[in-house]
Amino acid sequence: MLLSSGEAPFFEPELQPMLRRGAASGRLRFATSIEQAADFGQVHFVCVGTPQMGDSLAADTSGVEAVIRALGLYARTPCLVVGKSTVPVGTASRLAAELAAISPAGEEAGLAWNPEFLREGLAVQDTLRPDRLVFGVSSRGALEVLKDVYAPLIDAGTPYISTDLATAELAKVSANAFLATKISFINGIADVCDAVGADVVTLAQALGYDSRIGDRGLAAGLGFGGGCLPKDLRALLARAQELGVGESLAFLQHIDAINGGRRERAVRAAEELVGGPLAGRDVAVLGAAFKPHTDDVRESPALAVAAAMRQQGARVRVHDPEAIANARAAFPDLDYAADVWDACTDADVVLHLTEWPEYREIDPAVLCTVVRQPRLLDARNALAHDKWEAAGWTVRGLGVHGPMSPGVSVFE
Ligand SMILES: NC(=O)c1ccc[n+]([C@@H]2O[C@H](COP(=O)([O-])OP(=O)(O)OC[C@H]3O[C@@H](n4cnc5c(N)ncnc54)[C@H](O)[C@@H]3O)[C@@H](O)[C@H]2O)c1
Repeated sequence: MLLSSGEAPFFEPELQPMLRRGAASGRLRFATSIEQAADFGQVHFVCVGTPQMGDSLAADTSGVEAVIRALGLYARTPCLVVGKSTVPVGTASRLAAELAAISPAGEEAGLAWNPEFLREGLAVQDTLRPDRLVFGVSSRGALEVLKDVYAPLIDAGTPYISTDLATAELAKVSANAFLATKISFINGIADVCDAVGADVVTLAQALGYDSRIGDRGLAAGLGFGGGCLPKDLRALLARAQELGVGESLAFLQHIDAINGGRRERAVRAAEELVGGPLAGRDVAVLGAAFKPHTDDVRESPALAVAAAMRQQGARVRVHDPEAIANARAAFPDLDYAADVWDACTDADVVLHLTEWPEYREIDPAVLCTVVRQPRLLDARNALAHDKWEAAGWTVRGLGVHGPMSPGVSVFE
């Protein structure tokens, strides 16, 4: 099995060597039998996916339910099952009752909810040095187990919050809904900036100095994607509607719509740059992953833009340092390039859609020699526009009208 030999099935910085060390030490083992896992562990972390349902905004919790039920059936001795998956509020208390009812260990098989806040691309660092830990528990015993598991982090000063199951579940989805709101807010403001020639990067700086607002998550551009923010936003709205308080969170629909609209905005901006429709044009796309430092292409804004252009009859060549295999599987109709030069050769326009650090290292004067027309749409507002312009490029950002180089990535 791939994992047992220390191979990560996806790209995540710092993960591979840790996995190898763990597998080689014998302290990290993988199994495909839930019965084996139930027999072995006293604490079981459940991290299975909770994707959006095919036919509604709600989250599909069937995987989490199946795993917790299966663990319950085999839990013969006292244990704590700890949910890490992001679930609709109310899931944990329902599953806690079910677990105790079906488990041979009865009430000795407890359930806690310890939502996961890590960011892909920074997962190892976020796991070892999280901002906070949230423990949703219904007994002192469960709290003690979690404090014990996380003792090295707590001893190192990581704050933890002990609360009930519902508050813990909600803490996760609320955090993601808030982050999504912040991103769509600045993107809405970016459109106003475009309308009047103001500069959203400078504006975000001005906002960021306000300690009530903070300077993170205010990078205007192509918006968010991935396997979490979009579906968590929708699932929270769906759950609020089920609970009869949908009106209170109705604004989340607009947050989602503003985010989706960024993709059309980028396509329009590219059309404006080339001075007409994209049909028949050669378009180079830099970036396929939903964000840098991952090969995850779920709900990738970059690929959505690439696919929309292809749909309009453009010839689209996509480059990404890590995500080409996943992108090809998801969008087999697009063309893929092994390097930036290959992607950009004879391009009528270059689109910077995922802000990988290596794209900031591109020498625009050299790239200028391979494209058909030196036109750049920096939909992430992350490249040094002044440098590209000095090398002969016509550059556009989204909401960027400043004299200075636009901001740098959150990864710096
Ligand atoms: N990816 C993130 O950055 C992140 C961050 C915080 C929270 N979360 C939450 O963590 C959970 C997992 O997210 P992910 O991005 O890792 O999802 P994922 O789809 O990449 O991985 C989920 C894993 O669960 C496994 N799985 C699904 N159903 C199963 C079943 N019935 N039995 C056994 N295994 C099963 C899948 O095979 C897969 O390996 C989700 O609830 C997500 O919202 C993810």
